[in-house]
Amino acid sequence: KHLVKYIAFAWTLFSVFSCQTNHSETVSEPSESNYQEPHRPQYHFSPKANWMNDPNGMVYFDGEYHLFYQYYPDSTVWGPMHWGHAISTDLVHWEQLPVALEPDELGWIFSGSAVLDAENTSGLGTKDNPPLVAIYTYHDPVGADAGRDDFQTQGIAFSLDKGRTWEKYKGNPVLDNPGIQDFRDPKVSKMQVSGQDKWIMSLAVKDKISFYSSDDLLQWEYESDFNPPWAAYGGVWECPDLFPLTTPDGQEKWVLLVSINPGGPNGGSATQYVIGDFDGQTFSTDQNEIQWLDYGADNYAGVTWSNIPTSDGRKLFIGWMSNWLYANVVPTDVWRSATTLPRELSLWGKSPEWHLASRPVKELQKLRKSSHDISGDTISLEEELVELELSPVEEDFRLVFHNSEGEQVILAKEDDTLLLDRTQSGLVDFNERFPARHQAPLGELTVQNLRIYLDRSSIEVFINDGELVMTDLLFPEHRYTQVELKGFADENRLHYLQSIW
Ligand code: FRU
Repeated sequence: KHLVKYIAFAWTLFSVFSCQTNHSETVSEPSESNYQEPHRPQYHFSPKANWMNDPNGMVYFDGEYHLFYQYYPDSTVWGPMHWGHAISTDLVHWEQLPVALEPDELGWIFSGSAVLDAENTSGLGTKDNPPLVAIYTYHDPVGADAGRDDFQTQGIAFSLDKGRTWEKYKGNPVLDNPGIQDFRDPKVSKMQVSGQDKWIMSLAVKDKISFYSSDDLLQWEYESDFNPPWAAYGGVWECPDLFPLTTPDGQEKWVLLVSINPGGPNGGSATQYVIGDFDGQTFSTDQNEIQWLDYGADNYAGVTWSNIPTSDGRKLFIGWMSNWLYANVVPTDVWRSATTLPRELSLWGKSPEWHLASRPVKELQKLRKSSHDISGDTISLEEELVELELSPVEEDFRLVFHNSEGEQVILAKEDDTLLLDRTQSGLVDFNERFPARHQAPLGELTVQNLRIYLDRSSIEVFINDGELVMTDLLFPEHRYTQVELKGFADENRLHYLQSIW
């Protein structure tokens, strides 16, 4: 994958220096984007201009949800990484702020996390003004080009003004590389170990997760590795996240998210998860089969908002809505990529088999502009931004969004599989892997209800309040004007949604 990224970056440099510049590839940030460009998401966050990938450093502080993200402010393809920054007070409306972290002599700023160091354990703030601390990966492009193995290290930066300005820690890096090429994406949280608070870091190390611990965020000690034989290994492991959730019968369980690229169930990038126990040093599990967070092709590198502080105890997640198979070439100008909808994570199932559900956060109901009861087989869509709530009544059901230009996207249950077919959804030939039929195994799951969000360039399908999820990008050239329904109850709900921009 990094080869693909480097080729994309080299191509940008080539186009800039050879004066064959395609203007849209090199625009710098317009002071105001009207967010009306073709395919521009209307209720998902996307930067005003240029490239984004993974969400980073999500932390809730003083009434604001912070969202940082992998950002390249000089181009619409991947390149030297910065941390872009946006904030929201409701997880629905986003305000883009200036870039938070820029590359320095130690390297580009890859993915990572952020916490409030409330007790000032790091000494980077004061007890009265505790620091927000960002922990990220330095990627040294010179070391990488020279063929070294130790070009990824972990660094930290801190802010004493609600994330508005950041200072890099003078003693960086705080975690040196032991000679392993892929050594990145630190996710830090706080937990009690033997009655004492500890900082725990989960780190993606090639194809395992390593755990480190610290008292002060500055000195880190290696604890253990996790890489069970049955997990998905077709690609490099990235962007881990470790957090506790309570089961429906009241037990505390630990969830470990591990993104992998390539090797996803429908090709390219995807996120697997493991449910088990963490004792402060070691993660253990009885799980012995892969579980996937999302069976669509376009939810990658997602992680949760920090547990310190947390707004109201909910575990909130957001992903990058793309896939490294084609992320650099999706047909958008001005900007490239967006986040998924924010989702609340919870556990479902029966002991000892637990699964992760991700449902759209309740705040998204604010988007509803008008709501309609719908029945019949053919529903006209008067508007482009749609949320549908449907209850299937037949064993196999089918739903098709389409328009008179012949563009369509199909969602169908066929036997024990949920199928999302975007082969004729609009612009599809920018990459041979894009026009595809994505499948999710339903196993024992009985589909009771579906919630579907359609934005200008995406569809997100939530079965049974998020027990199974599919997220796919779509690039229709014309909006879908009708939806055909087969196998659903007579009463369903349609909501037209408003733009957040
Ligand atoms: C995941 C990823 C991370 C890395 C970042 C670089 O998409 O490859 O592992 O930190 O993107 O932009």
